[in-house]
Amino acid sequence: MTNIFRPHSLRALLLRCLLLAFCLSAHAAKAEEIQSPNRNLTLHFALGAAGAPTYSLSYKGRPVIKTSRLGLDLKEGPGLTDGFAVASTSTSAVDERWNPVWGEVKTIRNHYTQLTVTLTQAATRRTMLLHFRLFDDGLGLRYDFPKQPNLDYVVIKEERTQFALAGDHKAFWLPGDYDTQEYHTTTSKLSEVRGLMNKAVTPNASQTTFSPTGVQTPLMLRSQDGLYINLHEAALVDYAAMSLDLDDRNMVLESHLTPDARGDKGYLQTPAVTPWRTVIVSDRAGDILESKLVLNLNEPTRYKDVSWIKPIKYVGVWWEMITGRSSWSYTDEGNIKLGSFDYARAKPNGTHAANTANVKRYIDFAAKHKLDAVLVEGWNVGWEDWFGKHKDEVFDFVTPYPDFDVQELHRYAASKGIKMMMHHETSGSIRNYERHMDAAYRFMAENGYSAVKSGYVGNILPRGEYHYGQWMNNHYLYAVTEAAKYKIMVNAHEAVRPTGLSRTYPNLIGNESARGTEYESFGGNNADHTTILPFTRLIGGPMDYTPGIFETRISAYNPKNKSFVHSTLARQLALYVTMYSPLQMAADLPETYEKYLDAFQFIEDVAVDWDDTRVLEAEPGDYITIARKAKGKSSWFVGSTCDEQGRTSSIDLGFLDPGKSYAATIYADRKDAHYEKNPQAYAIRKMKVSSATKLSLYCAPGGGYAISIVAQ
Ligand code: NOJ
Ligand code: CA
Repeated sequence: MTNIFRPHSLRALLLRCLLLAFCLSAHAAKAEEIQSPNRNLTLHFALGAAGAPTYSLSYKGRPVIKTSRLGLDLKEGPGLTDGFAVASTSTSAVDERWNPVWGEVKTIRNHYTQLTVTLTQAATRRTMLLHFRLFDDGLGLRYDFPKQPNLDYVVIKEERTQFALAGDHKAFWLPGDYDTQEYHTTTSKLSEVRGLMNKAVTPNASQTTFSPTGVQTPLMLRSQDGLYINLHEAALVDYAAMSLDLDDRNMVLESHLTPDARGDKGYLQTPAVTPWRTVIVSDRAGDILESKLVLNLNEPTRYKDVSWIKPIKYVGVWWEMITGRSSWSYTDEGNIKLGSFDYARAKPNGTHAANTANVKRYIDFAAKHKLDAVLVEGWNVGWEDWFGKHKDEVFDFVTPYPDFDVQELHRYAASKGIKMMMHHETSGSIRNYERHMDAAYRFMAENGYSAVKSGYVGNILPRGEYHYGQWMNNHYLYAVTEAAKYKIMVNAHEAVRPTGLSRTYPNLIGNESARGTEYESFGGNNADHTTILPFTRLIGGPMDYTPGIFETRISAYNPKNKSFVHSTLARQLALYVTMYSPLQMAADLPETYEKYLDAFQFIEDVAVDWDDTRVLEAEPGDYITIARKAKGKSSWFVGSTCDEQGRTSSIDLGFLDPGKSYAATIYADRKDAHYEKNPQAYAIRKMKVSSATKLSLYCAPGGGYAISIVAQ
């Protein structure tokens, strides 16, 4: 047997060394370039110094991502960051269309050019693949580790994916906390992040911010020359969520994974892939909102039967607790260990909202106004102690309080064609939830509940785990797939920010994972909040924002609560269109809606599933105007939201079918409306419109408008 590398002589050895060096340098010099299908985007791959993989991205010849390094550091042994040679490259192209189970459009085009680079690390005999998918609206890139003897089971120390930006962009950012996403968005230049970080970390946050320049994704950026860039991730499965650390001298962002209780960043066993790292880019802000890149990078649905998955419009026994008017708990006596709750002994506190009579009121309202479901929070034993000494196992998710009659409410709701929506506050006690999960979902199926709102308030148990670490991300997905066995849809609050997984698991019907309407009762959201969220949080998937608050003074429900909603009433209607979600709550109380039935008509009419979506106007932090066509219908709905400045919105109804006549109902701010001083000043007018109609509509400070357009 001959070994070509066995040295026969010094000369032969030298020759072989030279040959090897030539081969390696030939690989090192090897660069690959691909273009997006419309040629606007160019992706360049090259091996840099010492065999370090790098990439760069340009849009219409302008740099978006300058040369940036790729790789991972491992807890043990050499990292997967350099010493690589290119073993092979291949390109491919895909152009296909698919129909989401629910969504903003009926059909989605998945159209990209792919470059796959196979890298070998000679010193360790390890192989790593890089996949780059270049769409017309951006880039997805991921690491792929095939099964191999020298890379079997690894512990990640840190991922080293860089995004070297071309300037000191304007950024819409949240601190890179491991445990909460419920911050105000700060808008600043990247160079100002460090100085503003302390102010950005609000007092009720978990305070685990890891770095003075660490920010969360989706991160929205705007360059000085008008490029809109969004950084996020897609298909976050069995991996820790990524934040971005900023080197603010060089304007280089670098991946920062959420650690586990031991400080490790993740565990991989080959074969394994990472989530996709995504860069959406355009010179038109509306393209960022219309992008389907994150969904396209996720796998098609795993479910054979999806007929049970349906968008939902709902009311709930909820806002009365959030405002502090009512309580989740039946009693004020705390420290009652689960299983020892004594119905006869517990003293009712008189403010428990989830009682049979009150829930029936919501069911009646839902039925009268053709809504789909009623959510009830605080129905089950445990709330009296959810932050007490029994937090570890405070809920069993099947034991109702004495004043909540599960069977009677099941019967009553079914008789009116209304579905019940379950609530599982886990108190962050994950093993307790997993232990009870099967019984809890079975209980739901038996009692007419087709969807569950789950929650993860507080520090995670087991102690030391973070909300967005690999272990927790696996839990969130486990809950979704377990729920699917009982045909249950999941709306998880405080869970990891979504990454398009609802394509694969469409019963993940909603998430909160950002600062929702509840904060209007806890001091307020900024007036421009809803002009930013669609560019940030919603890039990964829909949000259960819970709009529709008509009584904007919280003191009307709870005199002690001085908060107010930072929005006009008309803008609350607009949010059903601008904040896309297949799950929409009418969050205010039925008795309030009864006072404003003319405005409530929009909530009653608005669709929750769509055939088409057009972003008519958009600028992050300033305004968003969107038109959507109801699924399977000819009617359209328009929503517009603006910041604290107010503005005049000019739209063209050219999206309507030419030649058809439509009846439009416009719900708009009056001239004297103002989110703080006069939020309920709205006017409703009706007019005939067609595809030739152009409208100029006033949006008050913190205001907006909503329009329903019905074919005649
Ligand atoms: C926080 C959630 O966002 C809110 O909707 C829920 O009511 C409370 N947790 C209680 O679970
Ligand atoms: Ca929350």
